Amino acid sequence: MSILLLGANGQVGTALRASLSSSGSVIACSRAEADLEDPLELRGVLDTIKPSVVINAAAYTAVDQAEDEPERARSINADAVDLIAQHVAKTGAILVHYSTDYVFDGTKDGPYTESDATNPMSVYGQTKLDGERAIQASGCRALVFRTSWVYSAQGNNFINTIRRIAREHEQLSIVNDQIGAPTSATLIADVTKRAIECVNNETVTDHDLGLYHLVASGSTSWFGFAEHFLGKDREAGHNVAEINPIPTSAYPSKAHRPLNSRLDSSRIRSVFGVELPDWTRHVDAMIATMRPQETL
Ligand SMILES: NC(=O)c1ccc[n+]([C@@H]2O[C@H](COP(=O)([O-])OP(=O)(O)OC[C@H]3O[C@@H](n4cnc5c(N)ncnc54)[C@H](OP(=O)(O)O)[C@@H]3O)[C@@H](O)[C@H]2O)c1
Repeated sequence: MSILLLGANGQVGTALRASLSSSGSVIACSRAEADLEDPLELRGVLDTIKPSVVINAAAYTAVDQAEDEPERARSINADAVDLIAQHVAKTGAILVHYSTDYVFDGTKDGPYTESDATNPMSVYGQTKLDGERAIQASGCRALVFRTSWVYSAQGNNFINTIRRIAREHEQLSIVNDQIGAPTSATLIADVTKRAIECVNNETVTDHDLGLYHLVASGSTSWFGFAEHFLGKDREAGHNVAEINPIPTSAYPSKAHRPLNSRLDSSRIRSVFGVELPDWTRHVDAMIATMRPQETL
């Protein structure tokens, strides 16, 4: 099995490199080796490597900035995905791709399933949905994992940002009416590895390919998320800001975000037999393994 990994230096890409290190030959490409805004280069990489699995962990993920750069977001999140899907449809390889809770408008009362109607409220969400649709339209063999609130030890994400600014302030205000599941890049990578193995070993059939929700169990608000990890910092004796819950309306941002980001992951659990632990487990594990200078 030869695996081409695109977006190898992102949060999920980095975690995939670790998880897949024992899974056959992985050719990991960052933007420098395979730029999704350069169709010629991308096509050349696909033609040269001839992978049996393409994992696309690359994406335009700057949600607010996408409102000002819709063409770039579309080029990376939809047009490049279309090119990859068309290529994979021709070769018979498998495409693994990631999408987002932001394809929903968040008005549902309860977790979203894969069959719920989408209605993105942002350029980012719309371009990610267009990427999903391009994959579906291509007819290629694909696994598409919608996930939410991704974090990792190294990434530019909510945990690392809040922990840094919580050292510099006495009070912080954090939104408490957007609800979702913080999901670690490691969990996403481990489940991806398992799913690829199941497809490769034919433990699942082509009937089981398609769209899956992949998030940690449980849910919280951004405020609850921050309270949890800053609480760990306080327990470790660090002086960090007190945080105050505020509604989304008190924190204006360029992009609209869904209030309800909860995704129902029952399908992936039952088809691939994966365990999706409570969101707190991976947060605690990540903080516990960080070196002291990274801890704060
Ligand atoms: N982050 C979240 O909270 C979240 C939530 C839901 C879904 N997702 C989805 O999960 C997937 C992985 O996200 P992530 O958190 O790992 O994102 P990330 O850390 O922002 O990584 C994205 C990667 O894509 C690369 N990239 C951007 N433009 C590129 C281009 N033109 N050509 C090649 N590579 C390019 C970036 O390269 P550079 O390092 O060079 O910039 C970066 O390494 C994405 O599909 C994302 O939409 C993420």
